[in-house]
Amino acid sequence: MANATSMDVFVSLCKRRGFVFQSSEIYGGIGGFWDYGPLGVELKNNIKRDWWRATVQERDDVVGIETAIIMNPRVWQASGHVDTFADPMVDCKSCKRRFRADELVEHKIEAESAHGHVVETAGLRCPECGGELTEPRMFNLMFKTFIGPVADDASVAYLRPETAQGMFVNFDNVLTAMRRKLPFGIAQIGRSFRNEITPGNFIFRDREFEQMEMEFFVMPGTDEEWHDRWIEERFNWWTGLGVRKEKLHIREHAREELSHYSKRTVDIEYDFPFAGFAEVEGIANRTDFDLKKHEEFSGRSLKYFDEESGQHVVPYVIEPAMGIDRCFLTVLIDAYAEEEVRGEKRTLLRLHKRLAPVKAAVLPLSRNERLVPSARRVWDLLRPHFMTQYDDAQSIGRRYRRQDEIGTPLCVTVDFDTLTDEAVTIRERDSMEQVRVPVSGLVAALREKLDGA
Ligand code: GAP
Repeated sequence: MANATSMDVFVSLCKRRGFVFQSSEIYGGIGGFWDYGPLGVELKNNIKRDWWRATVQERDDVVGIETAIIMNPRVWQASGHVDTFADPMVDCKSCKRRFRADELVEHKIEAESAHGHVVETAGLRCPECGGELTEPRMFNLMFKTFIGPVADDASVAYLRPETAQGMFVNFDNVLTAMRRKLPFGIAQIGRSFRNEITPGNFIFRDREFEQMEMEFFVMPGTDEEWHDRWIEERFNWWTGLGVRKEKLHIREHAREELSHYSKRTVDIEYDFPFAGFAEVEGIANRTDFDLKKHEEFSGRSLKYFDEESGQHVVPYVIEPAMGIDRCFLTVLIDAYAEEEVRGEKRTLLRLHKRLAPVKAAVLPLSRNERLVPSARRVWDLLRPHFMTQYDDAQSIGRRYRRQDEIGTPLCVTVDFDTLTDEAVTIRERDSMEQVRVPVSGLVAALREKLDGA
């Protein structure tokens, strides 16, 4: 996808084919919130399953947990989020729109550099109406709520802005319950919330989103080596999903960009058609910052007894952290293709078979009453094994195109020969090649073609 027009086409495909809908659309929507449709939820689940398999199931040094979205508010004081998780914000005095000051400065610099002008960061005006802007104010990104019937300062709580703190506060519980030794990790998939000043770019920056995060606890002194290992590990996960390597790169954070807890952070970035390279995952060396802070605020020891040295140490933490919604956007954009086939345009999603929401579609050649019972029997046969769809509306060519457009790797066509030879045709999405297989061997044939997906 090359330009903004194709981004619009892509967003409309997501809606039209049931991947993503605007939240509360019939009421005009609500900024920064999205709903996932029947195909979207399948793709999302497939992404989560793949990450969990690679991060927890296939490793012997990581375990999973699931923690509450609302935590004791002291957690967010200890973690530094109450004091420092904020963006500078400016308001337009004329049109009352609100902007992130740092983004306005960046845009101005980009625009001026592109025109060869001297960079000038003072005297910014509203990008919408040219109006005068207020002085920047810091705006905390955590959503606040109240616990219990009284809405006062004593009952304030926050919706978590990252899942990570759930792992830190459970460090000792998991260590003890699972009899772990360093190095080991705790992983979690769950919702996070940030009251972003400027959500946007479709599902790229949301106010409610899902994260997949892993805190890997290591002996101090081994942290830099583990950091490098996890950067490589995570980059390979992205390319293993089929995302084109040349569209991904790794970017080192500059010192002044580092989060308050980080010694070194790198981002994995994808080259998005709407924004250029932008972050899809961050891999941070969080040092012993969080565990030490929680020791200080809770009064509980979060040290690890190292049998080798006979010492109690606070572990260092390496954290790969990613957003599922951004991953979803990345794999869809990367898979989106338009091709010309015999003078006709075909739109397809070349999704990795493991990620495809529908693995196989069953298509009777027509709605002929002799074909339908056979096609239904084939569908019944496949449903326990694969996520499938049955489609008998319109011409077979149109139905192939519809499946291509949602990334279905295989179509199974039931035709008049099936009635006598008990065989069906499997058609592949990418090559469009067709092979005939007996119905008795269909499940095995599809399984082989899906390669365990
Ligand atoms: N625990 C560390 C942490 O949360 P982060 O870089 O702020 O670090 C990690 O977030 C990932 O979460 C990002 O790389 C991005 O994929 C995703 N993410 C963060 N804010 C997001 C938002 N507003 N909307 C969608 N995804 C977001």
